[in-house]
Amino acid sequence: MKKAAIIISRTIIVLSMLALAGCSGNTDRSEQREHLVSHQLTIGFSQVGSESDWRVANTKSMKDTFCAANGYTLIFDDAQQKQEKQITAIRNFIQQEVDYIILAPVTEGGWDTVLQEAKDAGIPVIIVDRMVDVSNDNLYTAWVGSDFRREGEKACKWLRSYTRAMGIKAKELHIVNIQGTIGATSQIGRTEALESAAKKYGWDLLASASGDYARTKSKEVMESMLKAHGNINVVYCENDNEAFGAIEALRQADKSVGLNIRAGETLVLSFDGTTAALEHLLKGEIGLVTECNPLQGPAVRKIIETLEKEGAVPKQTYINEKVFAHDDTVESVMVHDTQYDITVVSQKLIDKRKY
Ligand code: AHR
Repeated sequence: MKKAAIIISRTIIVLSMLALAGCSGNTDRSEQREHLVSHQLTIGFSQVGSESDWRVANTKSMKDTFCAANGYTLIFDDAQQKQEKQITAIRNFIQQEVDYIILAPVTEGGWDTVLQEAKDAGIPVIIVDRMVDVSNDNLYTAWVGSDFRREGEKACKWLRSYTRAMGIKAKELHIVNIQGTIGATSQIGRTEALESAAKKYGWDLLASASGDYARTKSKEVMESMLKAHGNINVVYCENDNEAFGAIEALRQADKSVGLNIRAGETLVLSFDGTTAALEHLLKGEIGLVTECNPLQGPAVRKIIETLEKEGAVPKQTYINEKVFAHDDTVESVMVHDTQYDITVVSQKLIDKRKY
């Protein structure tokens, strides 16, 4: 943490900025002022990139939260999906003596050295979204994100219930998986869930390849999968942008997308829950959207503010997430010990969507 003199000078600067700065959150003014009198924190945030709509919403949530009017100076770095860039950014944050580092890691491995450097410099690191796979968990202070494996399990349970309700046998499902960035926790969890469900239920998992969470790459992957396999009837896309690319490729190949596999339609499943994906869901072009909530800024802020008061923080914080379907054929799915209600998408729900 910074020395008292630095804190005082920063506080003066921030107080004078208060009238000029604005956060889009609705934190109470007096609460903000009280916070500013005692703190002015500098945060270095290393973001993966801007590969998806989810990522753009996640960046916005962080920027809206860690803004001057809330008492923060945010140093933001976009790593363009490259781990080397993230490592350089973290080293720069250490040199700049930031108070906290927030890291959204592109993949799980390869963080030990740089996180040890941050630890040696006495800077707490908060991991967001994907996880890091490190030799010692004390290299980071806390993690905030999603249970990706559970997301995949929810989607697979829905697929099983929905197709059974339609009278479709397990062996009649010919599935391809357009995976996320290989080695990212979200890819690992969602892929593992599908592979284990395919094995358990006897689904035909024809092929898996990475679309890198991006629309263009996913379209290319879908095109080659269609050339290699003539019988695809389910496309499991590990994010919304991949679903958009896959739908484009399917349409160009004169395949119709929809929920009626029996009538020759291809059923598309997606993860994230952006407004655009819910619009596709409402039209029946996507069959299921399993939510992955990008609005993580407030949860990270809560952790930082607890640490500032020298309070204990949870090592892991999971964000609550829903499952959206086009109709109520399946009302809920049971994953392990938890029952998840399926939310039927509507225009009203889409109008209220924040990302
Ligand atoms: O790690 C979360 C995933 O990363 C989201 O599902 C995807 O859209 C993003 O790029």
